[in-house]
Order: sequence, then C-alpha cells, then structure tokens
Amino acid sequence: MATNRTFTMLKPDSIENGNIGNILQMITEAGFSIKAMKYTQLSDAQAKEFYAVHAERPFYGELVEYMTSGPIVAAILEKDNAVADFREMIGATDPSEAAEGTIRAKYAENKGRNAVHGSDSDENAEIEGNFHFTAAEIF
Ligand code: RTP
Ligand code: MG
Repeated sequence: MATNRTFTMLKPDSIENGNIGNILQMITEAGFSIKAMKYTQLSDAQAKEFYAVHAERPFYGELVEYMTSGPIVAAILEKDNAVADFREMIGATDPSEAAEGTIRAKYAENKGRNAVHGSDSDENAEIEGNFHFTAAEIF
C-alpha cells in the first residue's frame, strides 16, 4: 500500500554548516508536515545497521564514520506522494549533478557529505521511521 510519509535525516555536514533552519524551511514551505523529529547522534552500530544495504560498497566505512561524526536531525515527513516528491526536492546524490534549487545543490559539500537523506521507497520510509522513533514519538 502506498503511504504519504517519508523519512529524512539532516546529515552532520548540515548541522556543522548551520543549515538546520534553512533546510527545515525548504521542507515545510514545500508542503511537508513534520510527524516526528529529533536531534541526536548515531552510534557506530546504528549507522552500520541503517546503511547495511551499502555494506559491500567501497564507501561504507567512510559513510559510517561521517554519519557518526556529529549530531543529525531525524524526521518523519508527511505529504501526498512524499517519497518521490522528497527525492526530487533533495536532488542527485552528487551535488554537482543535482538540479538547481534542490537541497543538495544548495547545501551539500560533495557526494559523501551531501546534506540530507531521503527514503527511496514507501517500504523503506516505514522501516527507517520505525528505526528512529517509537510509536509514542510519531504524531
Ligand atoms: P541517501 O540514502 O542518504 O538518501 O542517499 P542516496 O539515496 O542519494 O544515495 P545512496 O546510493 O543510497 O548512498 C547513501 C549515501 O552514501 C554516501 N555515498 N558516498 N563516496 C561515494 O561514492 C558515495 N556514494 C554514496 C552518500 O552520503 C549517500 O547519500
Ligand atoms: Mg539511499
């Protein structure tokens, strides 16, 4: 069943670069409402589990190190067509390939430190949201 929710993280570079407010403003102005949100830091085990799908990729170690390097903002967002619309809004993984006006075009540093995460399917949005939030933390 299609859902209208997606999951995002503002990654450590967004926090380091002072972009929490700018990115949340883009998200809410695009019509997403916030169903859950927290400011937290991933443990090594959490980052490894979250990105387990990339465990065999050459960038996995670097990705886990980066994602645990500082705090993140995790959130569940709601809007019609949330997963696809949010992926369009964040832009390509590599900011040099991201469309103008996308979050990554505006705020990402490079392909690794790329400002935000967005779920790639309804199924993963549900899994990822439940990874970070208990039922009582989702509104
Ligand atoms: P995300 O899952 O974080 O929303 O990013 P994505 O779908 O656009 O990209 P994905 O292929 O799922 O990769 C996950 C994250 O790993 C880092 N990465 N680094 N150095 C590299 O070649 C490389 N490739 C990927 C990025 O932080 C990417 O967002
Ligand atoms: Mg991905």
